[in-house]
Amino acid sequence: MIEDACQAVGATQNGKQAGSFGVGAFSLYATKNITSGEGGMITTNDDTLNEWLRTFRSQGMKVRYLHEMLGTNYRMTDIAAAIGIVQLGKLDQFTAARVTAAARYDALLAGAPIVRQGTPAGNLHVYHQYTVHVGPARDEIVKDLANDGIGTGVYYPIPVSEQPYIKERGLGVVLPVTDALAKGCLSLPMFAAMTAAEQEEVAASLRRAVERHGGSAWPA
Ligand SMILES: Cc1ncc(COP(=O)(O)O)c(C=O)c1O
Repeated sequence: MIEDACQAVGATQNGKQAGSFGVGAFSLYATKNITSGEGGMITTNDDTLNEWLRTFRSQGMKVRYLHEMLGTNYRMTDIAAAIGIVQLGKLDQFTAARVTAAARYDALLAGAPIVRQGTPAGNLHVYHQYTVHVGPARDEIVKDLANDGIGTGVYYPIPVSEQPYIKERGLGVVLPVTDALAKGCLSLPMFAAMTAAEQEEVAASLRRAVERHGGSAWPA
């Protein structure tokens, strides 16, 4: 199993880390919970795969200038790695700050006509995003927040089933719930250094916007 754990670094289920259930793929792009600027990391307990990956990323070489397979240059630069290692040391602190910020949003938005995420017992959510469902008026709500100077993100506006690359290959499928969710969700500002005052401003702006345009229930 390959886990796309790019947004889940530090997340656990019953104490087990994301990326340890199978082979974990993590992005260290600048927006992620920890970053090396660009690049990523792979986690595995499989020695054979580990060796293959290290050889593949280094132009197929285990021994310098001896190419035993067709590889490529996927090596991380030392500078990026140095940044990433320092970031890794701060992961627990960043995660705790995001969890605190998420709980604060939960409290600030309680009772608003939106749907917030739930986290099943036994899971540690690391809140790469704090995503809410506001319904079909999402784009107007996004504009209102932008007018208040608040940036939001839509991850992802076009579902996989609607991507041209997929459709061109005849992989046609109708997913009305997915489509409704893609049109009705937005993600609020979320980062480890976010202050309570900033979150109060975001929550107040969102409350005004959903009151003006109407927030809606989860699609059935
Ligand atoms: C879930 C998920 N998978 C994969 C990626 C791709 O990562 P990268 O941009 O480092 O290639 C991202 C990053 O946006 C992501 O969020």
